[in-house]
Amino acid sequence: MTVGFMLNGEEVITQSDANTRLSAILRGTFGLLETKSGCLIGQCGACSVIFNGKLVKSCLVPAFRADRSEIITIEGFARSDEYGDIIRGFEKAGVETCGYCHTGKVLTVESILARQMAQARSEILAAFWGIRCRCTEPESLVEAVLSSADMRQRRIYGRSS
Ligand code: FES
Ligand code: FES
Repeated sequence: MTVGFMLNGEEVITQSDANTRLSAILRGTFGLLETKSGCLIGQCGACSVIFNGKLVKSCLVPAFRADRSEIITIEGFARSDEYGDIIRGFEKAGVETCGYCHTGKVLTVESILARQMAQARSEILAAFWGIRCRCTEPESLVEAVLSSADMRQRRIYGRSS
């Protein structure tokens, strides 16, 4: 089938089997290799993308559902000021990411900040439930989100929250 969607701000079109995973299309057809191919069962978050404004695991999205959607991958998001807020927030909190979990962690933080729920620690921890990071303690993730929120406030309003 023909599948067309907005990808990182550009209209794209491709041919695909209807049930091919979106993660495979992003990697194989468009060369977006930071959308990782991890567990392929929705449990690690390495394939995360922003899909129609929501954080979604692209290994669980068949091609037919991607048709006429809007997708932002970590490569597209990395060009934004919002990405910079999160990277600076991670640095301030002393939280590192590696090739395995960078995409999932960063896009999860963005989904939290976009929903303006960065104050509730329990909600922050719940948001990371579907991300498999072997090296960061949950409390450090909370600090990373709070620091990222602070960086965003400073960039937009010139002050902390
Ligand atoms: S590869 Fe999609 S959640 Fe693990
Ligand atoms: S920093 Fe490597 S798995 Fe999370």
